[in-house]
Amino acid sequence: MPGIVVIGTQWGDEGKGKATDQLGDSVDYTVRYSGGNNAGHTLVVNGEKYALHLLPSGILNPGIPVIGNGVVVDLEVLFSEIDALNARGIDTSRLILSANAHIIAPYHKTLDKVTERFLGKRKIGTTGRGVGPAYADKINRVGLRIQDLLDEQLLRDKVAASLIQKNQLLVKVYNQMAVDADEVADHLLSFADRVRPMVRDVARELNDALEAGKLVVFEGAQAHHLDVDHGTYPYVTSSNPIAAGACTGSGVGPNRLDRIVGIAKAYTTRVGEGPFPTELLDADGDRLRHDGGEFGTTTGRPRRCGWFDPLVVEAACTYNGVTDVFLTKLDILTGWEKIPVCVAYEVDGERVEHYPVMMDDIVKAKPVYEYLDGWSEDISGCRTFDELPATCQAYVKRLEELIRCRISGIGVGPGREQAVMIHDLI
Ligand code: IMP
Repeated sequence: MPGIVVIGTQWGDEGKGKATDQLGDSVDYTVRYSGGNNAGHTLVVNGEKYALHLLPSGILNPGIPVIGNGVVVDLEVLFSEIDALNARGIDTSRLILSANAHIIAPYHKTLDKVTERFLGKRKIGTTGRGVGPAYADKINRVGLRIQDLLDEQLLRDKVAASLIQKNQLLVKVYNQMAVDADEVADHLLSFADRVRPMVRDVARELNDALEAGKLVVFEGAQAHHLDVDHGTYPYVTSSNPIAAGACTGSGVGPNRLDRIVGIAKAYTTRVGEGPFPTELLDADGDRLRHDGGEFGTTTGRPRRCGWFDPLVVEAACTYNGVTDVFLTKLDILTGWEKIPVCVAYEVDGERVEHYPVMMDDIVKAKPVYEYLDGWSEDISGCRTFDELPATCQAYVKRLEELIRCRISGIGVGPGREQAVMIHDLI
């Protein structure tokens, strides 16, 4: 059985949980490898809706849910999600947590918010969850790790050391109150007893599992174009949601990744600031937002909406070695007479057929559209490709050509079973 990575190919919120769901009960491990509770997975299982931010979506399946070293963990959120699931009768006792994962401390959230305010017009539009500042501390080597929670004095020392510089910044630059190191340490240590039984050498356990032929799904959060190295920098998140992040964020080698599944929404959305060439600022955008329920799972913010952009998805497929694309929310496009699909950009009067590397070109890019015929039939009950209306099939086929990657699955409704599988993902 293989290692499978599931990543977003646009700017997040593609419905990645939907593809993981198709693998269902055969998954032995579901691993979150990057990001924190800035993510949002909405899952509908047996008609019940679950919104998860930090826990792997596999928490609802029989396998083992894993939080890898590449994740930043807000302990308060972790346990409130666990408690909420337990209250609905879901067993979360199988969850394991990497000793090397970093912690989001309360001061990271404060810093996230005050930095955004300070940036003013140049703000990133972050989720305000402290994710960027926690990763900044990790790279600056002043972060707090899950394993530090298991040694009270070590944790107290690290919090105090980390706050020396931050308190200067908070007080002198941002005009905020200084943070009390003991208060922060007491707060974090209050979770230590609940954390202890979950802490593992996740890298060892996953390698053993893969060696033993188990099926491991690495569940990306955010998406390729929000990646700190490959996304629309600086309008990105502070981690590596790309497929390669599954290796650094969990401790498995690249040769362990057998399939890379790229999730693409049948149109495009983005939350926060940053360029978005096919964005619709008119009634068509409002209609997509309304029909698709495009409001953030994490922040409730209305998502920016636009037509499908194959240049965006093709770049993600190419740079991640995507083997299969899962197209989500195709049912949302039902009822349009014509559906525009972007086939190129116009940048300074020149036609560009590949997603540009220069940020300035992405900002200036004007989409060149091809207009495909729409369909009016309800497709939510379709389970095979042949059952889809002919024009809907043609839409999928044209996208496949433009993104240069096969489409192996299609989401036709919010339910777990509302999917058309063309090729198996395992
Ligand atoms: P941060 O990850 O909170 O630092 O936010 C950085 C950027 O990534 C902002 O534009 C956010 O809106 C965006 N972002 C972070 N997480 C998600 C997500 O799960 N879906 C969509 N956008 C996200």
